[in-house]
Amino acid sequence: MSKSADAQRMEKIVSLCKRRGFIFQSSEIYGGLNGCWDYGPLGVELKRNLKNYWWRVMVHERDDVVGMDGSILMNRAVWKASGHEDTFSDPMVDCRSCKARLRLDQLIDKKGVKQCPNCGGQDLTAPRAFNLMFKTFIGASEDESSVTYLRPETAQSIFVQFKNILEISRKKLPFGIAQIGKAFRNEINPRNFTFRSREFEQMELEYFCRPEQGMELLEYWKEERLKFYENIGISREKLHVLTVPDDARAFYSKGTYDIEYEFPFGRQELEGVAYRTDYDLSQHQRASGKSLEYFDEETKQKFIPHVVEPSAGVDRTVLALICEAYTEDQAPDEKGKMETRTVLRFHPRMAPIKCAVFPLLKNNEKLVAKAKEIVDLLRPHMYVFYDEGGAIGRRYRRQDEIGTPFCVTVDFETLGEKDAGLRDTVTLRERDTMKQERFKISELIQLLSARIA
Ligand code: GAP
Repeated sequence: MSKSADAQRMEKIVSLCKRRGFIFQSSEIYGGLNGCWDYGPLGVELKRNLKNYWWRVMVHERDDVVGMDGSILMNRAVWKASGHEDTFSDPMVDCRSCKARLRLDQLIDKKGVKQCPNCGGQDLTAPRAFNLMFKTFIGASEDESSVTYLRPETAQSIFVQFKNILEISRKKLPFGIAQIGKAFRNEINPRNFTFRSREFEQMELEYFCRPEQGMELLEYWKEERLKFYENIGISREKLHVLTVPDDARAFYSKGTYDIEYEFPFGRQELEGVAYRTDYDLSQHQRASGKSLEYFDEETKQKFIPHVVEPSAGVDRTVLALICEAYTEDQAPDEKGKMETRTVLRFHPRMAPIKCAVFPLLKNNEKLVAKAKEIVDLLRPHMYVFYDEGGAIGRRYRRQDEIGTPFCVTVDFETLGEKDAGLRDTVTLRERDTMKQERFKISELIQLLSARIA
């Protein structure tokens, strides 16, 4: 059976990610480690651009949000109080025929009979809860008293530091605490490239409010987060908002939206926006015996704030950015013959490299020196890349394939050899339209900075 267009597209994306240094399998030379990924030189830039932009709009551009960076290891009591130790699990079954361990929701239902999706076997064990947290031991002894977990979400460190941050920041409700950091889940079936990983990063905001503000803020944050995705270049048509039904929501949540993206492997969750009520702070107050209440100066009342949480996955968003950007179009080669061009049409704000600088010829000292001068000029403002190898058309294609939005070429006009009026001008080539225009070198910083901001 031939592969679907979407499956082929996904294969090309995975192969490009490896070939151009976006994403590699972790521990690849030892056969890899399922569910773990390493970001290469371009992947790390893309990821940083995403995280920096999230931090900019969620923290720096707001008066009502501050940031924090919590530790990955925390006191086990945190995970008991939050409910993770008892309930953070997936129901699993084993197939006795092929020995596969499967999530209950992955079984095939054939006329009411559950079947193994691998071998079609029907000899399955009864479902058992499988805790998704990675267990570890603190200190030298490996016994129950030294157990803790790698955090499965960043949110809990925000809840347990709520009082400290409230006191030092002197914020009034509503206000938020933001964090970006690693999270770990021992997923049973990591799959779809980086989509479901065992180690991943989250960008989470806990936005504390009065109880009566919760539902309204849930709507507000859903809209803000949709705007965010559009501002990083994800088209609105590919984003979907799923209202999580009552029976599928956490029992303490009064409303949850999943923001989904149309990946080539299907419509899947990018981010959850949940109104978690006062559940988390109440749990930690009860378990720690420390007050996590807020004192309202105006009404002189004390209460536990409620919280609305937009929680996004860094790795899933990076994958969505790559899937969204991946394009094949037709463009003329050096001889004018049409060929297939692979382009990553990243929003310039997200693109790993913002501008590539080329001397027309690598064996002309004056062209090379001028091109290097431009690199030095732009470098304090953006990530630039110098390339002198191969025909200019090939150099453009290499940049198209990694999503560089702008290429600057230094030619003989730049040196003023053909027309003194063109001295110190360069061609600026735009990735998507492939249009080339001449600009003064002195205009470049302003021109490019405005496009990548
Ligand atoms: N604090 C709430 C929380 O953790 P979640 O829906 O379990 O909620 C939030 O996770 C986001 O974290 C998801 O929308 C997803 O983007 C990301 N995420 C969760 N599990 C993941 C995994 N195994 N691999 C990659 N990203 C994951």
